[in-house]
This record gives sequence, C-alpha cells and structure tokens, in this order.
Amino acid sequence: MDQIVPKSTLICGDAATKMAGLRAESIDLIIADPPYNLGKNYGNNIDLKNRAEYQAFTQSWLREAVRLLKPGGSLYCFMGVKFIARLYLMLEEDFGLTPQGWITWHYTQGMGRKKGFSPRHEDILWFSKGEDAQFNLDDVRVPQKYYRKRNNMAGANPGDVWQFSHVHYCAAERLPHPTQKPEALIERIVRASSNPGDVVLDPFLGSGTTVRVATVLNRAATGIEINPDYIEMARNRLKAPFEAFDSMDLRAARTSKDLPKEPSN
Ligand SMILES: C[S@@+](CC[C@H](N)C(=O)[O-])C[C@H]1O[C@@H](n2cnc3c(N)ncnc32)[C@H](O)[C@@H]1O
Repeated sequence: MDQIVPKSTLICGDAATKMAGLRAESIDLIIADPPYNLGKNYGNNIDLKNRAEYQAFTQSWLREAVRLLKPGGSLYCFMGVKFIARLYLMLEEDFGLTPQGWITWHYTQGMGRKKGFSPRHEDILWFSKGEDAQFNLDDVRVPQKYYRKRNNMAGANPGDVWQFSHVHYCAAERLPHPTQKPEALIERIVRASSNPGDVVLDPFLGSGTTVRVATVLNRAATGIEINPDYIEMARNRLKAPFEAFDSMDLRAARTSKDLPKEPSN
C-alpha cells in the first residue's frame, strides 16, 4: 500500500477568488466537481442560479483553472445533463483546451421514475492544456472479461463508461455531504492522469474526497471549499487511518497459467 504523505492544503472560500491567488502553471491535475445548478443545499450555499449567472460562475472558475494548469495538465470536470453540452463547448471553443474523453459514470442504482427513464449517470469531461496529456494505462487496468491468450493478462483498458455505485449510507467512507463522490472513482482519475509527486487541485472540495485520495497516492493536493463545515469534515477525514480503495481487484494480477492448454497437433 502506498504510504501517506501529509502534503495537503485546505482553503476556505470562493473557488475563483482563491484560485486567483495560486501560481500560474503550477497544477498537474484539476478534478472539479462543481455544483450542477440543481438546487442542492450545501449548508451555507444553495446551488440555484439563473442560466446567465451559472454560466458566468462557470466561466470565472474555468478561466482560473486554465491559467493554473501546467502545459500538458488535465482538467476533469463532473457535470449533470442540464449543462454538460454547453460546458463541453466552453472548454473546447472558449478556453481552447483539448478534448481527451467524455466519461459516463454509471452509478448503477437510484430512485425509479414512473414517467421517463430513471436517471443512472453523471458525466465527466476530460480536457487537457495542449494535446499531449498524461495517461497511465497500466495504473488503471481492470480485469479482462475473458482470459484468452491474446488479451493482456495485466487487465483491460477500463473504457469510458465507469460503474461505481454512489457512496451508500452504510459505506465506511460515507460522510454527511449531499453529493460525496466515491473514492474509487477519484482514484482512477488520479492514477490515470498524474504521477506520484504531482500537484492535484480540487476547487469544489466538498467532503474532501480528492484531497484524501490524492494524498494517499502520494500526490500533493490542494482543496478549495466555500463551506467551513466541509473544510472541517475534510480535515478530519485526512486524519483518519486509510485502509484500502474498494476498487482493488486481485484478478488483475492473474497470469496465463489459468488459460486452457495449447491444442497439440
Ligand atoms: C458537488 S459538491 C463536491 C463534492 C465532492 N466532490 C465530494 O466528494 O465530497 C460541490 C461543492 O462545492 C461547494 N461550493 C459551492 N460554491 C462554491 C464556490 N463558489 N467556491 C468553492 N466551493 C463552492 C459546495 O459547498 C459543495 O460542497
């Protein structure tokens, strides 16, 4: 298991304002999970703006995000269906970032609708500053569906539809935050798009998931959050002992010895 290095900084305040105080081109990876403008109650802030206000808010923090990224650095941004198409165009056309992937997080279960299809996904846009983005495939492989000789025994590329259940109320990592993201999902992003020693920023830290995961994986991490109660929650989370990510799957280490024997001629 990786050793925990306590290199984390928690900043309380507005994302765009606090990002403006950080050094340009100092961040390797930004993981942003902003409010989706769906009316959620985040304690000292309610996530409800009119469309123009929400767009201006998004523009202001994105401008800072682009300034902070190192050349080749990556931005992963979570978003709901209401704004994602507009966000994609802003990232590509207004800010000149390079699209690297559109990931669908399939969260497997949720409330059932009587009319219309029940929502089962959120999306994550991955863009980079410049074309040449870091991608550590060997660090994020998943078990192969079929262990045939032609397949890589170290596992398969996870693809761009990711299945992780929501953080259930009974999960060990669960904290009282309304939109907490699963550690294992953030782990995949951190492993794929940064290296140990790199600097990771989360401008909407919430319960502290990104900073927790990044420090466990030996990255330096900074989190910004406007609600001081959540900053306190993240601070306590960082102090708690870390056991494991629930994404570890030992089948990924299987070797070809369990393949059928070669047919003899
Ligand atoms: C979707 S949640 C992030 C959840 C987080 N990924 C986690 O796993 O816990 C968005 C967070 O952004 C915070 N927030 C809202 N407006 C903000 C702003 N202007 N600057 C910084 N944080 C803000 C909210 O308080 C909320 O905790």
